[in-house]
Order: sequence, then C-alpha cells, then structure tokens
Amino acid sequence: MGSHQAEHVSNGVNAMSGLIPEQVIAEVRERNDIVAVISEYVELRKAGKNWKGLCPFHREKTPSFNVNPEEQFYYCFGCGAGGNVINFLMAVENISFREAVERLAERAGIPVRFENGSPEKTQSGSEKKRLLELHRAAHEFFQNNLFGQSGGLARQYLTARGIQGETARVFGLGYAPAEWRGLLSYLERRGFSEAECLAAGLASEGRGSRCYDRFRGRLMFPVCDGRGQPIAFGGRVLDASQPKYLNSPETLIFTKGNNLYRLDLARRGFREKGFAVLVEGYMDVISLYQAGFDNTVAALGTALTEYQARLLKRFTQEVVIAFDGDAAGEAATWRGLEILRQQGLRVRVAELPGGEDPDTFIRTYGGRAFEELLNKAPGLTEFKLGTIIRRADLSTVDGKVAATGRIIEVLAELDSPVEQNEYLRWAAGRLKISEDVLAAELEARGAKAGIENSSRHRISSKSNNRGDGKDRDGSRKALGVRRRQPSGLQGLSDIEAALLRLLLHHRQLIERVKQVLYPEDFRHPVAQRAMECLLACHEAGHLEHGAAVFDYVKDASVQQLIAGLLTSRTSLPPVQTCMHYVRRLQVMHLKDDLKVLEDQIGQVEQEPVDGRLVSQLSNLLIKYRQLREEISRGIRT
Ligand code: UTP
Ligand code: MN
Repeated sequence: MGSHQAEHVSNGVNAMSGLIPEQVIAEVRERNDIVAVISEYVELRKAGKNWKGLCPFHREKTPSFNVNPEEQFYYCFGCGAGGNVINFLMAVENISFREAVERLAERAGIPVRFENGSPEKTQSGSEKKRLLELHRAAHEFFQNNLFGQSGGLARQYLTARGIQGETARVFGLGYAPAEWRGLLSYLERRGFSEAECLAAGLASEGRGSRCYDRFRGRLMFPVCDGRGQPIAFGGRVLDASQPKYLNSPETLIFTKGNNLYRLDLARRGFREKGFAVLVEGYMDVISLYQAGFDNTVAALGTALTEYQARLLKRFTQEVVIAFDGDAAGEAATWRGLEILRQQGLRVRVAELPGGEDPDTFIRTYGGRAFEELLNKAPGLTEFKLGTIIRRADLSTVDGKVAATGRIIEVLAELDSPVEQNEYLRWAAGRLKISEDVLAAELEARGAKAGIENSSRHRISSKSNNRGDGKDRDGSRKALGVRRRQPSGLQGLSDIEAALLRLLLHHRQLIERVKQVLYPEDFRHPVAQRAMECLLACHEAGHLEHGAAVFDYVKDASVQQLIAGLLTSRTSLPPVQTCMHYVRRLQVMHLKDDLKVLEDQIGQVEQEPVDGRLVSQLSNLLIKYRQLREEISRGIRT
C-alpha cells in the first residue's frame, strides 16, 4: 500500500474528529452496500458467502480480492489492501475521507450536515459543485458545436489528423466557436453569471470589465476527474497560430499537477495491459487510444509531478514513458524516470525516433511498430547507460572520464551484483575501456557508499522497533522492491493476532478485556494501534457494525492488519479462550520485563551503583508487581 493511502486515512480522522458528525458517517456506511459500490469498479463473482474479483490495487490474474457482505469490508490476499466502503472509495478514487463520505452520502441520498459548521468548508463544497455543473454545461456547449453547424472546420481538422468521430465522442472533444460571447451567452441562459464564468477560467475580462470567451476558434479537450467529469479544458488552434494550446487556469476543482489526462479512461486499460503508457500531449493519448493503446495518459503539459506518479502507482506497477523524440522529451524522460522510480514503479522508456511524437509515429509507422517500440523499450538502467554513452564524447579523455563517472553512479544504484556485473561489461565495451578499470572505479565508490548503507540499515532496524512505518522503506531498500507481501507486520505474535481476531469477531469481549489490558500491552506497534482503534470505536458506541472500526483507523498498516484478521481463513479460537490470550500476552511482557530486570541487576553487580539505574530497577519492579496483580484479577474474573 502506498504511503499516500496512509495520508488519506489520516485526513479521514481529521475530518471525522470535527466536521462530519459520526452519525452521518455511520449512516453513510450503512446505506451504501459495499458489494454494490465495489461492483461499480470491479467485476465481482459470488464465492461462498463472499464476493471475489481481480484486485483494483495491484495487478493479478487470479482473483484474490474479497468482499465480505456480512461484515461490509474488503480484503485482498494478494496485496493486503483492505477496509470498509469509505476506505475503498478513498483508495480507488484517490480522494480524501471527506470527499469519499460526501460522494457516498450523495449516492445514498443522505444530506451531509456539518457539525461545528466551518462555513467556509460548506461553502467551498457547494462552490465546487457549482463549478462542476458549469463545466458540464460548457462541455455540452463545446460538443454541440463540434458536431453542429459551426463545427465544420474543426471536424475537418480532426479528419485531417486521422481522428474518427467515435474517438472524438469517447474523448468528449468539442469546439469553441470563433465568437466573443458564444459560451458566455450559452452559460448565462443556463443560469450562470459572468462572475462564475470568470472564476471557472472560461471567460476573460477585457477593458471596461467586459467579459469575453477565453476559448475562441479552438478544438476543445475536456480534462476530467476520476469520475470522468470535466474539470478543465485545453483548447488547440486549428492552424499554426500561437499559443498552440490554451488551458484552463487552476481552480477550486482543478490542480494541474494532480491530474493525468484521461486517467479515468485509461484505468481499465492499465489493468488489462498490465502497464501504463505515459505521453506528453493530448493528441498522443487520443491517437494511441484509437490505435488500441487504451492504457495511455498524459501529464498535461507539465513536468511530471510526484503526485501524478503516486496517482499512477495506485493503478499500475509499470510505466512505459513515450515522450517526444527530441531534446526536451529526453530531458523530461530523465526527470520522469526518477520520479516514477521513487514511487516504486517499474519504468521503461519507449525511444521514439528524432522529431516524432507518439501520435505522428503511429500515423507514420502504424500500431504494430508502436507495439514493438513498447516491447523492446529498455528498462531504467539500460536507458540511462545508453543515453550517457550516446551523449558522451568518447574521442577525448575528458569526455571518457565524465561519462565513466556518470556510468558509475548508475551502476552503483543497482542492488543485484549480477545485474551490476552485466551492465558493467556492456558499458566497458561501449566506452572502450577495460572492465577491470571500470570495476575498480565502481568498487572505490562502493566502499564509500557501503559505509553509508550499513549505517542506514542499522537506523532502519531501529525504526522498526519504534514502528513508525519507516521499517517498510528500510526493508524495501535492502530487498529490492517488493509489493506482494503485506509488510509492516513482521514480528506480530500469534498471541496478539489471535486476541485481536477474537475481539474483532466478538466485540462484546472488549468491555471485559479493556479492564485488564491497555493498548500498550500489545507489543507490536501495529497491533497496539489496532487495539486503540477498537477501543475508540467501542467508546463511540459503534461496535455493533462490522465495518465501523475502519473509520477509526489512522494508517494503512492497521487497516491491513484488521482486514486481514477479519478475513483469516483459519478457524477462530473459541470465545472462552479470550482471557487465556490476555494472560498469555501479559505473561509475555512479564517475561520480557524479568529478562530486563535480570540483565540490569547483572550490570549493577558489575559496575558501581548509579542512582538512575536504581530508580529504573525499582520502577520495573513496581510494574512487575502491578502486572502480576492484574493477571490474578484477570484469572478471577
Ligand atoms: P505538444 O506541442 O507536444 O503537443 O505539447 P501535441 O499534443 O503533440 O499537440 P499536436 O500534436 O501539435 O496537436 C504537449 C502538451 O503540452 C501542452 C499540451 O497539453 C500538449 O498536449 N501544451 C503545449 C500547452 O499546454 N500549451 C502549448 O502551447 C503547447
Ligand atoms: Mn503532436
């Protein structure tokens, strides 16, 4: 699970702790059947009591994504994603807790009321809605124009560029007529004010504060959100005039760097093809789509942002970059590679011949050729090394030295020695220097990096104990990217797991357990937080509803643990064993504490006594006695 999921979950808690009343959240959850909601995204088949399908959060061929209608939660055995209906929508749409609740409320026809009414928030909510309506109306206008009388030139233009009518419809293309108040008067007739059109960036203000259409005589490309609703527009001139494209400014509903052009359409393609194609332009996406490459998105004419990379990571594990075959495209590719790689995506580069972009390439050479380009697209390392060597001036010593330095940097990033060796040989051959020399350079650099590396590992194993989530990054560095296995749960004892499972299934047990056990008594940090969530949910009186506990979950690893425990296929221990597990947990601590106590006593015996140590020891003794008391109380009850 990506780190941004955790972010969203914590957004949820913020929203929950004040603005949306808990009753509303509960109602929203209960009135939106999870099977129905998930079915809108995933093809589900009945399997016993549960429903099953292909996980939308990772790529798989056999379904390991389960939806439990009784308890109203989902869980993927493949990647560990799990939660209730609100969590699902947040994850699949990449939206905040608040947005997910609002959408689900809308879906179920529940009016969302805000508790300690932050009026701005409510206002911005309705402003957003209004903006969406305005964009919908404008989109209608543009589309009517393209397919109506005034659209002749634009239709001709599309034909000349090989775009079929059907494709234009799929992408919702439109035409802004060459008039000053075409859209404005249309929108005014539909009840929108000039001020609203200005705020939406669809009108501009001229002299004497007279408004006029921002887009005139342009082919219009709607930019859509995850639901396929237009939230902005790009407009292209039909000739060679400048600027070639005009885009909507950022508004309340549109942030450039947070959107990928037609992600809403390409998501399905990602899943089917197993990877995403990332291009630069609107026309590239459309042209590729028409040729059957329906897994294409564009970064909207900006340098790829980290946000966009995370967005991609939600839906796919591999990205093939197909930027324009020119210097700017290559520079953008280089930057894009890093950003995508940092999100743990596999990246390859489709290298287009000079002067071509995917659109012109496919029209010149055909879909087969593009397919081949994708198939033979080199991976990250090969591309980097190839580019360095291509650019290097190998006729001079300086040029060779510079290229060698850069190549060493790339080789040093590789985790596998085998891979490192292969690329080293290849690079040495191309640079026309001896393998031994290159290897020696790499070793010299590695010796330095090795020191840094080992200290980093030590730190990461420490943070593992703290359980602040950093353990995941640490282990990922050491083992290479691993996503299949739910991480962050290493070291969870059977005792803790069994106890949590019992509490999740028989929530009446919580009342009793909470008398003798604190969340801190769970040794594993994730289990500890899971217990905190259970208690919070219990305090709020929501425990009777299976999926309610997920509303109290702050981070992805806890969400994963709870969903996993609820779904576990092994037989549930009998209810009567609950207190037995509580005692075993306490005994586990007791043993730990005693061990520490013994160690410390051993130390004190060797070294001269110091005051702090003595007080630590007495604290431990007190704790030990308390625990013993609690246990005996536990046995009596
Ligand atoms: P390109 O110039 O490569 O556009 O810019 P393109 O998509 O290949 O367009 P055609 O084939 O000439 O019609 C790539 C992207 O950069 C943004 C647009 O999003 C465009 O699709 N761009 C480009 C602008 O926003 N403004 C511009 O003036 C040019
Ligand atoms: Mn182009």
